[in-house]
Amino acid sequence: MTLNSVLLIGAGNLGSLILKHLQASSHKFTITVLTRESSTAQFPSSVKVAKVPDAYPHAQLVEAFKGHDVVVSAISMMGMHQQYKFIDAAVEAKVKRYIPTEYGLDDLPDWLTELRPMFRTKHDVRDYCFEKEKEGLSWTCIVCNVFFEMGIQSGFFQFDWKTKTAELIDGGEAKWPATTLDTVAIAVVKAVEKDEATKNKLLLIQDFRTSQKEILDALPGKWKVENVKYETWLEEAKEKVRNNDDSALPKLTFGSVVTGAEWKDRKEFGNELLDLPTKSFKEAMEEALRGVQS
Ligand SMILES: NC(=O)c1ccc[n+]([C@@H]2O[C@H](COP(=O)([O-])OP(=O)(O)OC[C@H]3O[C@@H](n4cnc5c(N)ncnc54)[C@H](OP(=O)(O)O)[C@@H]3O)[C@@H](O)[C@H]2O)c1
Repeated sequence: MTLNSVLLIGAGNLGSLILKHLQASSHKFTITVLTRESSTAQFPSSVKVAKVPDAYPHAQLVEAFKGHDVVVSAISMMGMHQQYKFIDAAVEAKVKRYIPTEYGLDDLPDWLTELRPMFRTKHDVRDYCFEKEKEGLSWTCIVCNVFFEMGIQSGFFQFDWKTKTAELIDGGEAKWPATTLDTVAIAVVKAVEKDEATKNKLLLIQDFRTSQKEILDALPGKWKVENVKYETWLEEAKEKVRNNDDSALPKLTFGSVVTGAEWKDRKEFGNELLDLPTKSFKEAMEEALRGVQS
């Protein structure tokens, strides 16, 4: 199987980088971007654009998907539930490969999905992809844990730029996988290029593992450090979410990351299979900090 013609849905933060790397690939893909009628996204004139109504109606998706070998979804969290429609349309249009908008966590603790069932959507979409294998659709999931530069810039790793306060959870020593957006985008393009090796595979990828402590030591300026216990810190966030305060949702997500993980020994670890070029912590940190200062 060779995948030559790619349709990309959601050329936003990550998707625009996937588009860039698809265009740069030596495989010379034919590329279409699918965008909503209400979208304000702009694309270079060299890119073919298909517009569909915001509700992504089935018939128009099928029409847009026809003739494409692969559909890559990089739709936002807000639109991820639309993927059932994308998958049904992909089957009908005889698309060979579907790449869902994963690009995040692998393991989801029960407390997370119980508090906010929306966190399960990506895993339910995975299951829907598995089901559609019998109808001829193959799939690849790219799972990267946290976006490193977004985590630094947004304070997601519990470093508040406004008050220069760091909340170190249980000492901040636990290490977790982190990936830059550019590396995630390259992984998606390599998954399409290496279509046989990546068929029906979930691939865990990363640039490196890092910890709150390592990040704190690399941050410029003087930071006030507050040491917190994981259970207490998480319980506060859970309580807010129980009271419908969604501002605590990122804490819940980080709460499922900060306890640490090692992916290298897992059979799904995909860096080698994809021959993925990676960035060092130092390189990624320098790039992330440029985003904070600008
Ligand atoms: N691991 C991490 O730390 C991390 C962090 C952030 C995001 N992510 C994941 O990465 C994926 C892509 O996220 P992103 O930040 O790149 O997405 P984004 O830029 O917010 O949105 C991507 C595109 O989705 C389309 N879209 C469709 N319905 C939408 C809706 N209701 N609201 C907003 N956009 C909608 C838009 O494309 P058109 O306007 O062209 O239709 C938009 O440009 C998601 O799966 C997300 O969960 C992971």
